[in-house]
Amino acid sequence: MPRDRLRLVVSHGARRLPGPPVLSVIAIALAVLAQHTRAKPCAAGCTVYGTCNEELGRCDCPRNRTGPACHQPLSRKALAERCRLLGTQDVNKCNSEANTCINGCHGPTRGACVAGFCHCRPGYFGNDCALSLGGADGKTPVVLSDRGYTPRAVGPRVYIYDLPPELTTWRSDINLDRWTIRHFLEMLTASGARVADGAKADWYFIPVRLRSSSDAYVLQRAIHHLRHAHPWFNATGGGRHFVIAVGDMGRLESERGPLSANVTFVSHWGLASSKKAERLNSSPWRASHRNATDIVLPVYISLRKLEKYGITRSRHHPKFATMAPPEIRERNGPLFWFAGRICQDRSKPATDGVWPNCPGAMGYSAMTRQAVHFHHWDRPGYFVAPGDKNYSRHLLTSKFCFGAMGGGHGQRQLQAALAGCVPVVIGDGVLEAWEPYLDWNDFGVRVAEADIPRLHTILGAIGPEEYARKVRSLRCAAQHMAFSSVTGAYMGESGRFDAFETLLAVLAARARHPDTPPERLRQADPVLDAFMDCREGPDGGGAALVREDVKVDVGRGPPLGREVRRPEGKAVTAGQTAPQLIVQHQRKALALRAGATAASAERHSVSEALLGSVGQQGAARHGPAGERRSLLGAKGNHDHKPRQRHRPAVAQKPSGMAAASMHNATAIIRPRRVCSVSPFDTEDPAAFPCRSLVKGIYSPPPGGLICAGVGSVSQCPRLWS
Ligand SMILES: *[C@@H]1O[C@H](CO)[C@@H](O)[C@H](O)[C@H]1NC(C)=O
Ligand SMILES: *[C@@H]1O[C@H](CO)[C@@H](O)[C@H](O)[C@H]1NC(C)=O
Ligand SMILES: *[C@@H]1O[C@H](CO)[C@@H](O)[C@H](O)[C@H]1NC(C)=O
Ligand SMILES: *[C@@H]1O[C@H](CO)[C@@H](O)[C@H](O)[C@H]1NC(C)=O
Ligand SMILES: *[C@@H]1O[C@H](CO)[C@@H](O)[C@H](O)[C@H]1NC(C)=O
Ligand SMILES: *[C@@H]1O[C@H](CO)[C@@H](O)[C@H](O)[C@H]1NC(C)=O
Repeated sequence: MPRDRLRLVVSHGARRLPGPPVLSVIAIALAVLAQHTRAKPCAAGCTVYGTCNEELGRCDCPRNRTGPACHQPLSRKALAERCRLLGTQDVNKCNSEANTCINGCHGPTRGACVAGFCHCRPGYFGNDCALSLGGADGKTPVVLSDRGYTPRAVGPRVYIYDLPPELTTWRSDINLDRWTIRHFLEMLTASGARVADGAKADWYFIPVRLRSSSDAYVLQRAIHHLRHAHPWFNATGGGRHFVIAVGDMGRLESERGPLSANVTFVSHWGLASSKKAERLNSSPWRASHRNATDIVLPVYISLRKLEKYGITRSRHHPKFATMAPPEIRERNGPLFWFAGRICQDRSKPATDGVWPNCPGAMGYSAMTRQAVHFHHWDRPGYFVAPGDKNYSRHLLTSKFCFGAMGGGHGQRQLQAALAGCVPVVIGDGVLEAWEPYLDWNDFGVRVAEADIPRLHTILGAIGPEEYARKVRSLRCAAQHMAFSSVTGAYMGESGRFDAFETLLAVLAARARHPDTPPERLRQADPVLDAFMDCREGPDGGGAALVREDVKVDVGRGPPLGREVRRPEGKAVTAGQTAPQLIVQHQRKALALRAGATAASAERHSVSEALLGSVGQQGAARHGPAGERRSLLGAKGNHDHKPRQRHRPAVAQKPSGMAAASMHNATAIIRPRRVCSVSPFDTEDPAAFPCRSLVKGIYSPPPGGLICAGVGSVSQCPRLWS
């Protein structure tokens, strides 16, 4: 590379990367070096049985094959050993066809599912075969080039590492109980947040499953791998990288070693300061959540469970008041309600007035369940018991519901919020979902552990007006707790404020304000502020959002050689200057706003499109055997020639983000909504009942029920433009 061009890269990067310019220079130099050294073709014949990551020259094999080009089948003994290392003792389960593939490998044209592993056709790669080399230079990874995929206008731009299968798709998901990561992975593509060019990303997602403490080593190995294979980790020091850790103890359970110190853990467990052993009468609860980096995500509750708990009949639904059955319509259940495990060993807590009431099981829920039972189990109007045959009715008819911790994170507070029961949360030093971006004391009641004995006084002091205000705030908060894009809607919500969208909104705001501490982020970022209030945008107009990645250097046009992304995601030639672009976008936005009925008209046409294509969907997820046959049949034995390797364009740089905070343009929101699983909507075609769109609503299509009926993940309705 000529020296003057290198200097251009360096100064360009120095202007945009956060942190001292010297660090940026080093980061850019590393990035350039790494991209030069990593280009290597895959071993010849790789794609006969395997998948060739053309960006890295890495040949990935299915679980039961080995060798540089996957030609060698594993003996049953060797497979058993591999499975054991993957954490599955049962070989049949480990390599079972019942293991599903991410996004159904975008089959059949792009790939076929081999027991969880995506066998991609030549030219396609990635854990779900979504990637290929393309772009302006033909050498940059692109997402679903043949399906008209465009990144969404509102950020964040999320890069998903394509890790070796032993860290990802070889791991059996047959017994997996928490699918949040898979849903999120698919939703990143469905929602248009995914980008394939790491140089343009705001965030980097490390897609390893973190469910139990034995998964922690996988993350450690993943970071070792990606740190050598890509420049982004070193360039950011692990910042702007995130994982989703769904284990009970969050980061504490999923982290080994200091390498992930700057990685954002998106977890359910928000314990930010340790609890002392003597107070618990058990081993201490060590702090897990780090305020400056980590994010508390609500627990994903599947549609099956939502139905079981009665939550699909949520009080938040606008039709609840008129359509709910009489036995749940009034709030005439307990004043305060909790039904669930109280003693860790599930024994019945003692009611003889002697503390502790669960002597054999100290420490569970940091003793809060035990203490609440001890002080209030026989108080009139209070229901605190290990079980309740009328669980779903009480969840909907109680006034206050105790959202207790468990052996770490719990989900009762989320059930309560979703059902419309004002949640009572008790856990000193524990951040609840989306705190500090939401305040649970606003729509719920936060009680200090020391105040448990006077809980009844605290709740008694909440008058009807304050209670009504909490209930009103709860409807918006509940939308942030729901995973409506996957499960379908049940509160009359559009889904655009759902938990996955909220995660994206928080990540986008943090990318815009890298140095703002979380507790001040809403103040600093009007877009996030509006979003958390379930408002459309900072201007209140409903049609426009501040767009973050379009405009650069007004008056001078885009910097040399750099692609500028339009809100629609199409690359724009360098001849078109940024101000021109903004004018175009604003015109579009204005045009949309001008027609007051534009939104409803579009909604209508969406529903028609959805209803019209019902028949096409359904093939993707479980990849019928026919798909694989046709793939193999079509491919024959020839392997494709190695393509030219990716070399960095002059001005590519590891940060798309620092630039973002300077940018300002207007993008268009296309109002969209997810179909409804609410029993109150089954007779109302205008509400898009999910059952009319897709039969198997319990196993949603890739990308969730928001994608019901569309046929390809790239065609899912976008909730935010
Ligand atoms: C490998 O496993 C897949 C999926 O179970 C199976 O279809 C295939 O026949 C196996 N191949 C070998 C060589 O055992
Ligand atoms: C990142 O840093 C580590 C440790 O210094 C080094 O071993 C690795 O090669 C670096 N990665 C890249 C892509 O330069
Ligand atoms: C984490 O960030 C700090 C401060 O920027 C840096 O000194 C440290 O090296 C980073 N850690 C890793 C593992 O890169
Ligand atoms: C983290 O945030 C919580 C809630 O805002 C606060 O109570 C706690 O003191 C913070 N912890 C640290 C270590 O800053
Ligand atoms: C459930 O509710 C019904 C109706 O109020 C009541 O008759 C019954 O006793 C309750 N069952 C239990 C186990 O509490
Ligand atoms: C974006 O631009 C508009 C119009 O030029 C301006 O009114 C607004 O204040 C700008 N917003 C930000 C966040 O810079």
